[in-house]
Amino acid sequence: MLQDGRIVACGTAEDLAAKYPDSERDDYGRSLILAGFIDPHVHYPQTAIIASWGKRLLDWLNDYTFPEEAKFSDPDYASCMARQYLRQLIDHGTTTVCTYCTSHAASVDAFFVEAERLNMRVLAGKTCMDRNVPDALRDTPTSGYQDSKSLLEKWHNKGRLSYVITPRFALTSSPGQLEQLGQLWSEYPECLLQTHLSEQLEEIAEVKRLFPAARDYLDVYDGFGLVRERSLFGHAIHLNDREQARLRDAGSALIHCPTSNLFIGSGLFDMSGLKSPGQPVGLATDIGGGSSYSMLRTMAAAYEISQLKGHALHPSQLVWLATSANARTLHLDSSIGNLAPEREADIIVLDLYSTESIAARAARAESFWEELFPTIMMGDDRAIEAVWVAGRQLKPWPD
Ligand code: GUN
Ligand code: ZN
Repeated sequence: MLQDGRIVACGTAEDLAAKYPDSERDDYGRSLILAGFIDPHVHYPQTAIIASWGKRLLDWLNDYTFPEEAKFSDPDYASCMARQYLRQLIDHGTTTVCTYCTSHAASVDAFFVEAERLNMRVLAGKTCMDRNVPDALRDTPTSGYQDSKSLLEKWHNKGRLSYVITPRFALTSSPGQLEQLGQLWSEYPECLLQTHLSEQLEEIAEVKRLFPAARDYLDVYDGFGLVRERSLFGHAIHLNDREQARLRDAGSALIHCPTSNLFIGSGLFDMSGLKSPGQPVGLATDIGGGSSYSMLRTMAAAYEISQLKGHALHPSQLVWLATSANARTLHLDSSIGNLAPEREADIIVLDLYSTESIAARAARAESFWEELFPTIMMGDDRAIEAVWVAGRQLKPWPD
């Protein structure tokens, strides 16, 4: 039962019909109604370079990513790509994302304007980088701080929008820039901060070369006050014991990006971290290093990687990761990520029989989880029958 963009009550159709006899009713038959998917690590400006062939991380950034991101100095291009990206999201049942923009303020404005039009709960930040990038993308410690601050003041907590302080990673920020962003964060401690950590071995070696005094990769960020509860670390694959313990103590979130880690050949994230008390873990597509917009496909990749690590994630854990756990990593679990009363009405309807092959397998299921699992492993946007954002239906897309 929905009212004014929020969930008022959740229960069986029969119980709700008895309790609210005059309310309008949508009948989704035997489909599964659940909270919209949440994707806590993406780069919306990489929409156009998804599935770019044959590179490892640093070459992939230089050859594909940076030239594309340079185009976002044009506000019209940024708006067009933001619209395209958000449309993909809705089609795939994702109702919240936390995205990197480019270093241009226009890319942040474009994203928030388009998301606000759809009344989506999204998080985004200007990607700060003052070295090892082309001139067209390079900012400075001062301009990175000032632009981030102006954007933060313009957009943070405006309706359903949140600003995220965003140093890209240690290789593209000088110590001076990391210091400035640490300063900014201390002025706005309730914001989130997102960056990348220990994704690929070549990257880690380069970080060691640029920051010889740091004990390890995480220590670089720690030295500037960037490791605490509201930090989001994308990838975090190759961590030493000290880094793991420090991340757990700090309560920072680790964001697993399985399709990206496979696609760029980065490594296998160890999901047993799920079991460490106090260690928030999320699951993300990492578009455009990631190879699918679909959180279903992303859950499938997480399952497969976990199998290689000797641990089978249960379908309930996979759905929990894509909804509730991701809401928690974004510190939004009191607003989104489940269907409890008072939560914002971001809701999707999953057709568990969306293709012939999925239907054939689901029909033989002997339990609910067995019926759901084929959709997790083989499903895509065709399985997303309906999407509601803040109580308004966006799939099927309104005319
Ligand atoms: N490390 C720094 N920037 C990026 C990026 O855009 N994508 C990925 N996958 N890793 C990064
Ligand atoms: Zn990323």
